[in-house]
Amino acid sequence: RDQEINKIYQATELARDFFFSCLTKTNLGKTAREYLAARGVADQTIETYKIGFAPPQWDKLSLAFLERGISLDVLLKSGLAVSRQSGRGVYDRFRNRIIFPICDARGRVIGFGGRVIDNSQPKYLNSPETLIFNKRHVLYGFDIAYENIRGSGQAIVVEGYMDAITAHCMGIKNVVASLGTAFTPEQARQILKCNVEMVFSYDSDSAGQNATLRALEVVRALGAKIRVVQIPDGKDPDEFLRKYGSEAYKLLIQDSLPLVEYQISQALANTDFSSIESKIAAVAKLVPILAVTRNQVETEAHISRLSQLIGVDEGAFRAEIRKYI
Ligand code: CTP
Ligand code: MN
Ligand code: MN
Ligand code: MN
Ligand code: MN
Repeated sequence: RDQEINKIYQATELARDFFFSCLTKTNLGKTAREYLAARGVADQTIETYKIGFAPPQWDKLSLAFLERGISLDVLLKSGLAVSRQSGRGVYDRFRNRIIFPICDARGRVIGFGGRVIDNSQPKYLNSPETLIFNKRHVLYGFDIAYENIRGSGQAIVVEGYMDAITAHCMGIKNVVASLGTAFTPEQARQILKCNVEMVFSYDSDSAGQNATLRALEVVRALGAKIRVVQIPDGKDPDEFLRKYGSEAYKLLIQDSLPLVEYQISQALANTDFSSIESKIAAVAKLVPILAVTRNQVETEAHISRLSQLIGVDEGAFRAEIRKYI
């Protein structure tokens, strides 16, 4: 089994090199190079992340790998090739896509993400779960960001490949991507090992905001120090950075809300406190948030501010929190 795993690592590393030279050294990669240039990805960044391109043919990689003595079995188990439905043989999983190699904390290639360069679907295709690729554990860019995360005392967590890449490219280098929407305890633990605070900077669309709230539940249970960035007008970090620049994004990070304040602002968004019902509803939403804050001084400060804001008795507010605990 160990030998099998080693062979899979060899295949993924070789595939990364294959995709990288396809992007950077062949005519086939021209459209993809233009696509990346149009999105502002510098050559140095392509080099750092070893971004690549999967050619459009059905079996270019598979044929090249079989020729180099990589077995059909390893091609399939690495997720690089897929069995043909009818008859024998395999075809390449990734075709005509920009390739983002996904590495573990030690920088070993464990899988890939591929983005279309037109409007076809799905926009992103990722490696399947394999003996070495487990999506729950993946923090894209962690190996590259590691030193800067340690050095800055912060890990900025974004959703997508391009968010991490653009941030890095524009000089913000303590960024990792959770790839998609469900942030897991396994991902959190890798960051917490660095003993730094986590700054969530997900997309500002509703999917991103819901994902933020779910991620916060996960990390709060682990006792992490957390802040949340809110990007204005429906953008993700990549779009925001390219439109407004890195200084503007750094300001957003500076102004990010600590976990509890973010949760309070979400709970009270679009609510008014004119009727007794609305006051009760607001308190009911705040109780679970304040019941689990760990510092009593902090809790009290929130209680007194919020009772004034909502117009309820502090003592009654406190009593509701005690009931909840
Ligand atoms: N994702 C995925 N599969 C999809 C869509 C999204 O795996 N079909 C993951 C990718 O890691 C993607 C992230 O979720 O980077 C965020 O998705 P989304 O916001 O939709 O994409 P962007 O990263 O903003 O894509 P781009 O800027 O390249 O259009
Ligand atoms: Mn790497
Ligand atoms: Mn999104
Ligand atoms: Mn985007
Ligand atoms: Mn996005």
